[in-house]
Amino acid sequence: MTQTHLQLTDEYFLKAGGDEFVLFHFDEEETKQLTQSQYEVLRQLQLGTPVDSVLDGFDRESRDHVREFLEFLRRENVLEESEAVPQEVPPPVDEPRLKLAHLDVTEGCNIACTHCYQEPYLHQGEGLSIDQIRRIVNELYWMNVESVIVSGGEPLTRPDLFEIIDLIEQRYIRVQDILTNGMLITEETIEKIRSLRSSPNIVVSLNGLTPDSDDEIRGQGTNEACKRGLERVADSDIEAHVCSVATTVNLEELPEMYEYLMDLGVKRWRVGLAQVEPDTTEEGHFDIDLDEYQSVSREIVEKHLETETDMRINIEGIFKEEVFEFGYSKYEPDSIICRYNERSCCVKPDGTVTPCTLLHDYECGDVTDEQLEDVWTGDTMREFKQTTVSEVIPEDCRTCDALEYCGGGCRWWSWNVDDTLAGRDPRFCQNMQYFVDEILPMVEERTETKPTPL
Ligand SMILES: C[S@@+](CC[C@H](N)C(=O)[O-])C[C@H]1O[C@@H](n2cnc3c(N)ncnc32)[C@H](O)[C@@H]1O
Ligand code: SF4
Ligand code: SF4
Repeated sequence: MTQTHLQLTDEYFLKAGGDEFVLFHFDEEETKQLTQSQYEVLRQLQLGTPVDSVLDGFDRESRDHVREFLEFLRRENVLEESEAVPQEVPPPVDEPRLKLAHLDVTEGCNIACTHCYQEPYLHQGEGLSIDQIRRIVNELYWMNVESVIVSGGEPLTRPDLFEIIDLIEQRYIRVQDILTNGMLITEETIEKIRSLRSSPNIVVSLNGLTPDSDDEIRGQGTNEACKRGLERVADSDIEAHVCSVATTVNLEELPEMYEYLMDLGVKRWRVGLAQVEPDTTEEGHFDIDLDEYQSVSREIVEKHLETETDMRINIEGIFKEEVFEFGYSKYEPDSIICRYNERSCCVKPDGTVTPCTLLHDYECGDVTDEQLEDVWTGDTMREFKQTTVSEVIPEDCRTCDALEYCGGGCRWWSWNVDDTLAGRDPRFCQNMQYFVDEILPMVEERTETKPTPL
């Protein structure tokens, strides 16, 4: 007779680091936090230990609790009797655990946007081979990483993209987002994405409603092609997100773009400033007038607060939808400078590891000849990830009314323009002052009256 044992069903897996114990599911909403002893019980079962032997490790009273816990998980179809061979489970890692890896799967791209931060890597060398990516994904697995963002270059130019995604999912890592310019999205792509276990968001970069507001920056014909790709995603049941950079040629069009994206059923829209060094583009497309940016942003936020929609928006330096769920996150002097990226890092197309996608020349290591774990725990990465607000902000920020919201801003500007981590982004600074004076009171006043999203 074949022997069965109690195991997690195939949608679930265990991840742990420091004092965090997680029952992972490909659907983030199904992922649950566990106590350490719940985690240990499930880990032993996963390794093939019979239930009776697991229970033997507890006193009588605790044994009843463990039985109830296991019964509950059986009823919820989290546990099942299975004939499958017991699995390896990565042991918990030390803090800080890497939770999200941004993986640039290709150095290739089918267009050449003038603002692209990835430009130094594009069309350089051959990018990472499938064997190198397999090794990196294996490392992510042993590091207890939960999610990956797939980007590039243009990921859809890579013929074995879905093989890579399969490698990631087989190691119980969720593909959270696929970033794409959308031009190569076909019906076949849609079908392949629909069959993935992770249900990734497809994040299409689109900078305008018309060729006039986009093609100068991304090339002739790109706007039509990007919109076609986005519309294909929006017509399916895949979650479509859009990322736009504000430029001198699309700025006035952004409020109309809000309507277009909402009507299309896009679930999230992010508008940001292009992180390009001053005056580096011939036409100065990215030197936008910040007063205009603020007034256009205000128009969008006002429209948004009055609209019943489930599209979430994020306008850099001005508004984040998350305030309705979590309030504004505030910085203290000892807060880490970039909370958003505290538990993530980026593997560039040639294997260079950086603290985030934008800081492309802040090199912390190279996964083609080092272990990612060594890079993640190495001095250069730690120096960035552990730097606090008070260590980088200039003297006059210390008394600023906006400091608790701003935290000194994104490190991109100070690192790329001022050649130091300690500095301030003058554009972010100006937007933050506007946020505190104009947007914050408006949001606070309307928070109570914001219609519940559909
Ligand atoms: C580097 S691209 C890679 C994925 C894909 N090729 C695309 O265009 O979406 C990822 C995102 O970064 C944005 N991006 C590129 N350069 C940028 C910059 N200098 N500042 C801000 N965003 C930038 C793009 O517009 C796009 O939304
Ligand atoms: S499509 Fe993406 S990767 Fe390609 S040049 Fe544009 S922003 Fe860069
Ligand atoms: S808004 Fe400007 S002055 Fe104030 S904390 Fe931010 S960067 Fe410093």
